[in-house]
Amino acid sequence: MGIETDIAADWHAALAALAWQVDLGVGEIIGEDPLDRYDLPEPVKLPDPVVLPAKTPPPRPAPDAPPSAELALLAATQAAAGANSLEDLREALARFEYCDFKRGARNLVFADGNPKARVLILGEAPGVEEDREGRPFVGRAGQMLDRMFAAIGLSRQSPDPATALYITNVLPWRPPNRDPSPDEIAMMRPFVARHIALVDPDVVVVLGNTPLQAALNTTGILRHRGTWGEGFGKPVLPMVHPAYLLRVAAAKREAWADLLALQARLR
Ligand code: URA
Repeated sequence: MGIETDIAADWHAALAALAWQVDLGVGEIIGEDPLDRYDLPEPVKLPDPVVLPAKTPPPRPAPDAPPSAELALLAATQAAAGANSLEDLREALARFEYCDFKRGARNLVFADGNPKARVLILGEAPGVEEDREGRPFVGRAGQMLDRMFAAIGLSRQSPDPATALYITNVLPWRPPNRDPSPDEIAMMRPFVARHIALVDPDVVVVLGNTPLQAALNTTGILRHRGTWGEGFGKPVLPMVHPAYLLRVAAAKREAWADLLALQARLR
């Protein structure tokens, strides 16, 4: 049932023809020629959609390239080994570019006190005031430290090695808002080891968890305080950090016992 092409141009005639076909019962429009639907070509199969990962992962380093923590540790080990004096060591640290904390710090905080002291104090890292002044333990915790050790006759100003203190930190740059990670502590360890070897004190006192980890490879200062260990080839006495004593006055009793143990060891 076809529509004549000459009436296709005439809108009214086309409408009338359509109405007539509907009257005849036409329900759908089909082509002029019969269609064998069983002989149709196979529909084209589209490839499965490609699902992309949410984020492309960063490229992997070549399998034989050392991870950056290892590279930094290697650089630190070489730099520290080449330092034959405290001044050399300070310069090696100033040139060391692998510690992120350096970028945010104003100053390198190297050490304070008497390099001939029998007692070397190892703290964690400089705070705001230390960063500003370039000297360790000059803020409130530092004043507490001075009072604690003065109680057993030791001070950083003393010219006499027997009553002097030498003070340094695991980190010479101020961490802005977090504790150093175990990798960062491990990276700075060769410098600390060299620092202690150059000063060659009789004992090392570690204040808090960061130096405890660097010296004795453990954490839990509240558990370990007062128990002598050995690290960097020296007797090591763990004590709580003076900042902790400022917050928890009850801990001063145990700190006093640790100071007396230090005094006894030095006699
Ligand atoms: N706390 C530390 O551990 N070191 C400093 O130098 C100052 C505060």
